[in-house]
Amino acid sequence: MTHSLTLTRPDDWHLHLRDGAMLTGIAPETARDFGRAIIMPNLVPPVVTAAQALAYKARIMAALPEGSKFQPLMTLYLTEKTDPDDLAAAHASGLVTAAKLYPAGATTNSASGVQNFVKVQPVLERMAAIGMPMCVHGEVTDADVDIFDREAVFIDRVLDPLRRRVPDLKVVMEHITTAEGAAYAKSDPGKLAATITTHHLMINRNHILSGGLRPHYYCLPVAKRETHRLALLKAATSGNPSYFLGTDSAPHTDDAKESACGCAGIFSATNTMSCLAEVFERAGALDKLEGFTSLFGPKFYGLAPNADHITLTKGAEVEFPSYISTGAGPVTVFNPGIDLHWKVTD
Ligand code: NCD
Ligand code: ZN
Repeated sequence: MTHSLTLTRPDDWHLHLRDGAMLTGIAPETARDFGRAIIMPNLVPPVVTAAQALAYKARIMAALPEGSKFQPLMTLYLTEKTDPDDLAAAHASGLVTAAKLYPAGATTNSASGVQNFVKVQPVLERMAAIGMPMCVHGEVTDADVDIFDREAVFIDRVLDPLRRRVPDLKVVMEHITTAEGAAYAKSDPGKLAATITTHHLMINRNHILSGGLRPHYYCLPVAKRETHRLALLKAATSGNPSYFLGTDSAPHTDDAKESACGCAGIFSATNTMSCLAEVFERAGALDKLEGFTSLFGPKFYGLAPNADHITLTKGAEVEFPSYISTGAGPVTVFNPGIDLHWKVTD
């Protein structure tokens, strides 16, 4: 039996760090285990320009614990007005790693997102030319499409046509939640990949809706039925480099979650590595964990893996705080619903 596991230090390829008191409160939770993270730009107002990304990066650095080596990899939020020159310069200088495409209205703080995908064509062509990846929130927003079908419909109606128009664009399908998403993501290795969250490997829609409404399991894209969770688990534990970790850890204060109109987002930064070790072990795939958390993401983004390592140790049940206190208010930590036994010890 394996009791100790040393991995190349993991990265988080999809993370919400927020701003202000929330940023200060939650940044240390990611910086503890992770080397780098792709920082989502959906602030209010969003991070649209290089100047905004530079200022946001400075606020993140200031929120890190002293001596932390954590590196935020910044992104720009694409709008129909994004200036291709500003974006290209931000990428060339190393300030910005990727750009995020949100369909307008698809999720939290996405009001400035794209309504007409043809309008961003020149920016996407520029990104393809300079090798800058596009991260995409893959859901249609049409009111006539059922919320559980929005990812699969997005692939057919938006993503596949867009990729045919800009075939050289590198695309990361963010936080896939369906068998259709997993199948499409592996169809063009090196050009196309997907992030998978911790929580979508552990919960299905019953966790949200059965036996009482559980707002802390509500996120977007919403968790689907069990067959989809099993497809994601198979993908994540397959050793296929088209899939890598993006926690989508997305803190909201408890009063914003436990509300008549609760916010979407699950906060999992604190216990993600414990959760994933448990999930991969139960799937008989502990040997595939390092690829998923630490190797395939850098490979897709054209970066070297982190040079240092973490060690996970298996023992008695591991406890995590049920919430993190921040200056903005308490933030509930993802409850995996199963006992965890692995802990990052070094
Ligand atoms: C994210 C957030 O709160 O910013 N929410 C979520 O449910 N995942 C936005 C997102 O990534 O869709
Ligand atoms: Zn997100």
